[in-house]
Formats: sequence, structure tokens, C-alpha cells
Amino acid sequence: MGDGPHAVILAAGQGKRMRSALPKVLHPLGGRPLLLYVVDAVRTATGSAPVVVLARGDTAVRDILGDSAICVEQEAPLGTGDALRSIPETLRGAGPVLVVHGDAPLLRPETLQRLLAAHASSPRACTLLLGMPADPSGMGRVIRDGEGHVLRIVEEADLPPGEPVPMECNAGVYVFDGAQLWPALDRLSTSNAQSEYYLTDVVALLTGPVEGVVVADPDEVLGINDRRQLAAAEAVLRRRTVDALMLAGVTFEDPASAYVDPQVVVGRDSVIHAMTTLRGATVLGSGCEIGPMAILTDVRAGDGVVVGPAHLDQCELGDGVRVGSYCRVRPNTVLASGVELGTHAEVKNSTVGAGTRISHFSCVLDSDVGEAVNIGAGTVTCNYDGAAKHRTTIGNGVFVGTNSTLVAPVHLGDGSYVGAGSFVDHDVPAGALAVGRSRQRNIEGWAAGRPLHP
Ligand code: UD1
Ligand code: MG
Repeated sequence: MGDGPHAVILAAGQGKRMRSALPKVLHPLGGRPLLLYVVDAVRTATGSAPVVVLARGDTAVRDILGDSAICVEQEAPLGTGDALRSIPETLRGAGPVLVVHGDAPLLRPETLQRLLAAHASSPRACTLLLGMPADPSGMGRVIRDGEGHVLRIVEEADLPPGEPVPMECNAGVYVFDGAQLWPALDRLSTSNAQSEYYLTDVVALLTGPVEGVVVADPDEVLGINDRRQLAAAEAVLRRRTVDALMLAGVTFEDPASAYVDPQVVVGRDSVIHAMTTLRGATVLGSGCEIGPMAILTDVRAGDGVVVGPAHLDQCELGDGVRVGSYCRVRPNTVLASGVELGTHAEVKNSTVGAGTRISHFSCVLDSDVGEAVNIGAGTVTCNYDGAAKHRTTIGNGVFVGTNSTLVAPVHLGDGSYVGAGSFVDHDVPAGALAVGRSRQRNIEGWAAGRPLHP
């Protein structure tokens, strides 16, 4: 288990309150399975891979963890105490054991380190994290003795009726003395409201002081049991992310309506307008202006990029790129520096050279477009012949007139021109003018004697 303190994450519960086919700990938070936040926090705090207890045969959780954790299976979901009892002898040590619930994604590594340090500061049987959240419903309550030592934890369902309810709640984060923990697990019973083996009952079975550490930020102890709590955690995480970006020099016009995943990077002096969503591995440079109502997923953008209310997915934008309103930039697209997209333009699986302009209502699909090209409004690269996709290649300095239809595979040579309204289905040599339309005919006097609006 490495050199750090042994750490265990409990993630084998059924998550019944989520009412979901997906294991509770795999529900996404800020775009990632919530269990991964707990694994990251524990790894940062201890410097080693934790043991994760997962449900029997749960390959989905196992696959997501990969080699970031050592996986152990719990035979049946008989309670948090039973989950810990699933750890085999070979992984049990007599030293301190950090135990964390897999449904607490807002825990900070510094808090876990504080708990470990407190536990090491004097001889103890256990040190546990306590919180006083605004909504403590469903949480175990902590009973202290007259000297402030923790006597026991009582689950909400087992609180004696009519008696005052203690304010302090159990966060589900403990450091146990291993020598006492493992034997105590065998003494747990199921005589409680939920007929489960409660880990919380271990506290009263230990010999020696049990101390509580109160967490400063009550959001950290939020456990995700149902979808209301998932939404509450999402809001906290989002606020943390946006706050950190603002402190790093990013302006948010309306922080409350910005949806930003935690891994997103934004350079200083960028402005994020209202109702904008930045997802996944999005990285934006400095001095960008995004939104309002833009949705960017896995976008890498340079400096000074301007994006209106547009939808961009898995693409790269060079410095100074401008994307107009209602554009859609689809996966595998690279727009080099200074590229401009007008309104309602769509680009997919294409490279577009520096300084090229793709005007409104154009649709550039499966294309390689050179530098300083002008693509007039309403131009379409027809990439599909009903059986296969083909590419359009356009050289540097090409001028494509408005409302042209380029039927792939087709190549427009450097410096060539395409007349407006052309249908182009064979290559245009460099420097040539292609006019692919029938000539206009004017019939003199044709309207004479006809009613204006029949
Ligand atoms: C638990 C605590 C409660 C505490 C709260 C903090 C117990 C009995 N209660 O309640 O005192 O205030 O967390 O959030 O411990 N799990 C297993 N196997 C099981 C059951 C659960 O691995 O058989 C895992 C779950 O996946 C979850 C964690 O243990 O990650 C906690 O279980 P959960 O059912 O969420 O407990 P709570 O009701 O939240
Ligand atoms: Mg819980």
C-alpha cells in the first residue's frame, strides 16, 4: 500500500436513494464520476493509492479506477462496518487507517491532512471529522462526554424520540488506530433501525480517547445520497471553480449562470459572459471573450479569441479567432489564428488556415482550407455522396463566391476564384476562375400585359 498512511474508501453501497441504474459513486459531478474526487483527495493527502471497497462484480467502478486504487469487493451491502470488514488481512495494518466515504466528493485534501495530523498529535483510538451542515438530515449525530471526547455516534433513524438532537454531524471520515479497528469490526451487530453493520458503532467499542475535528467549511461534509444532494454539490463545486478563476484574473459577467467544469483553464483578462458553459478539458488563453450563451466542450483556444452564442466541441482555435453567433464548430476542427466565422456557420472535421473567413450560413465539412481564403455566405462543401465521405481541399488565397456548392472530392488551386452561385464538381487550377452556373437570360418585354400580382 505504499509508504503513506493506509487509506480506505467505501464505495460499495447500493445508492438506493439515487434511484438509478448507475452506481451512485459514478454519477458525474463537474463532468467526472464523483468517486474520482474522493480518490484524488485521498491520494493527495496520503501520497499513495487507497483501497476502494466496491460492490461485488462492479466492473464499471473498477474500470474507472484503473490503477489509481487497490480494489476490494464487499460480498453484499450489509452496511459501512461490513464494507470495511471486507478488507483482507494482507491489507490490514496496526498503524493509522484513514477511512473515507466514496460519496463525499467535496472533501479537500488539506482537511484530510489536518485530520491525520490531529490523530498523530496524541495517543488516540480514533479521530473523526465533524461538521454542522445547513441541512443535516440523514446524518449520524455525535455524542460527546463532559470533557469533549466523542462517546458515540447515533444514526438519525436511531435517535431516541423526544430528546434534543445533537448539532454535530459525522462526516464519515475517520482515522482509526488499526490495532483496535480490525478486531472491533467483528463485534458489530445489526440491532439498529436499518439492520446494518454500522461503522459508526465502532466508535463506542474502542478503548482510549476518540476526538472530533470540526471542519471549517460545512460544504465539505456533504454526502451524496440523492439527486438533490448531487445538485447541491454541483453548485458548490461550480462556485469553487468560478471563484478560483476570478481570483486568477478572469472576469465573469454573471458567476451564478456560468457552468464551468473544475479542470477548465482560462487565461487572465478573459471575460466570460452570462449563461456560458465551459466543459471538460477546455483551455482558453488570455484576453478571450466568450458568450453570452456559448457552450464549449474540450476546446483549446489561444489568446484574444472571441466566441459569441455558439456551440463548440473538441476543436482548436488559434490566437484571435472570432466565432460569430449561432455557429457550430464540431469535433476534429482546427481554426488557425485570425480565422473568422460569420453567423450560423458550421465547420466539422476540417483545418482552416490563418486569416481565412467563412461567412454566414456556410457549411464547411471534411475540408482542408488554406490561408487568407474568403468563403462567401451560404457556401457548402458537399462531403457525402450517399455512400462515402470525401474531402474538399482549398489552396491559399482562394475566393469562393457566395452560395457556391463544392462537391467533394474537389480541389481549388491557390489563388483561384469561384463565381457566386457556382456548382463546382471538378478541380479548379491555381489562378483560374470557375463559373459553374448557367448564364442569365433576360427576355425583353416579357412582363408586358401580365397582371402584376395575379
Ligand atoms: C453515513 C454514516 C453517517 C454519516 C454519513 C455522512 C453510517 C452507518 N452512517 O450515512 O453517520 O453522517 O455517512 O455522509 O456509516 N457503503 C458500502 N457498503 C455498504 C454501505 C455503504 O461500501 O454496505 C458505502 C457507500 O457506497 C457510501 C458510504 O459507504 O459511499 C456511506 O454509505 P451511505 O449509505 O451513503 O451512508 P449514509 O446514510 O450517508
Ligand atoms: Mg452517504
